[in-house]
Amino acid sequence: MFTRPDLPKDFLFGAATASYQVEGAGSEDGRTPCIWDDFAKIPGKVYMGHDGSVAADQYHRYKEDVALMADLGFQAYRFSVSWSRVLPNGGDKVNPKGIQYYRNLCTELHNRGMKACCTIYHWDMPSELQAKGGWAERDTAYRLTYLAKVLFENLGDLVDMWITINEAMCITFLGYQMGMHAPGIKDNDRFIKSVHHVNLAHGLIVSEYRKTGLKAPIGITHNLEFPRPATKDPKDAKAVSNHIALRSGLFMAPIFRKRYPEYVTDELGWGFPVQDGDFDIISQPIDFLGINYYSEHVLRWSDTQPNNIEAAERWEERMSGIGWRITPHGLLRLLKWTSDYTGGKLPFYITENGACCDDRLETDTKTGKQFVHDEQRIRYLSEHLHMCAQAINQGVPLKGYFCWSFIDNYEWTYGYSMRFGLVYCDYETQKRIPKDSAYFMRDVMAGYGD
Ligand code: FCB
Repeated sequence: MFTRPDLPKDFLFGAATASYQVEGAGSEDGRTPCIWDDFAKIPGKVYMGHDGSVAADQYHRYKEDVALMADLGFQAYRFSVSWSRVLPNGGDKVNPKGIQYYRNLCTELHNRGMKACCTIYHWDMPSELQAKGGWAERDTAYRLTYLAKVLFENLGDLVDMWITINEAMCITFLGYQMGMHAPGIKDNDRFIKSVHHVNLAHGLIVSEYRKTGLKAPIGITHNLEFPRPATKDPKDAKAVSNHIALRSGLFMAPIFRKRYPEYVTDELGWGFPVQDGDFDIISQPIDFLGINYYSEHVLRWSDTQPNNIEAAERWEERMSGIGWRITPHGLLRLLKWTSDYTGGKLPFYITENGACCDDRLETDTKTGKQFVHDEQRIRYLSEHLHMCAQAINQGVPLKGYFCWSFIDNYEWTYGYSMRFGLVYCDYETQKRIPKDSAYFMRDVMAGYGD
């Protein structure tokens, strides 16, 4: 049964990807390796040692991909820039072929009536900069700002929406504290430094942007977390607030409160390498906030676990293929909390939402036509879009929604074993086969049911 989410007429529908996950062309036209190329080579870090050297080959197939998105009715494409394609080895010298690729992509989007939404950093740091310490070094924030400046100068006439950084929480926690993502570091001291330097990079980029006179909106994308407490016990509430301080506050408080959360500075005693004026830079006004949402946690107090936080039992039995619980109601809570936190006026975009499913490519024996019946993903999307509509009705300034992802791609440590696309990618042939969910989104975007 189709029920149309009651979304405003000007609600922006987009699809999202990231450079390392889709582009491929790993050593073509001057691109040099990034930390994910290196990480994938370490035995046991990434499923079957998969890497992004070919991925969905979008570097060569962007025209086909843009045409497919436009035909489905998407109004915007969120992509990211491969740093080492534009600045090989993370140096100062601009690679004209790298710039040309992104100019071509944006032009193609415009030719098909779509908006270009450019993420400046979605995790693929040039290997050379990691060798110098990566995000544990303050200089990396200036290096990324230099990349941003190059992009503003060379793509400023074509980009309709800028996102400074994707998911600072994953960059820092997964990359520097837990060692689960590239660069695979497990070191609390370097982790704390990385948090401040990623925050600083965001602020420096926004400051740099305001000097250019460009008018397209600029913001940042966070995967915010607003877990629910298991009970009304104040101790459970405290466990939740600890978690929020660690996962959301570390990155939101510097922008919106000009400080780090008190739990982290006063209770945990973390010392950040903050220099005079840093918070003024980080808290530059932004034009929108991007929110990535997949699932909601349930937490309770623990006397023994780190930070007194422990996962509690839960009632939602549905899980997506990657093992994440399906919790659409959590999106509504998160949006309302974020709206309260930011004062209720700052526009939001969902910059990622979607599901990984156990997709099966099937062939109609009579016609030879290929299809993927991904009913679970359709339900996921539908339920989350309804929550977006409810949030808007309750006053949340939500302006648009980007599906993660346009096409199946390199899912980081899971390699190609997890599929998040609306479009199936046959990695053997690079054939694109829209899944049923792509047609579901087409119908939503076409206004079916209005
Ligand atoms: C997010 C990442 C994105 C993708 C999805 C599934 O954390 O930003 O690149 O991997 O998860």
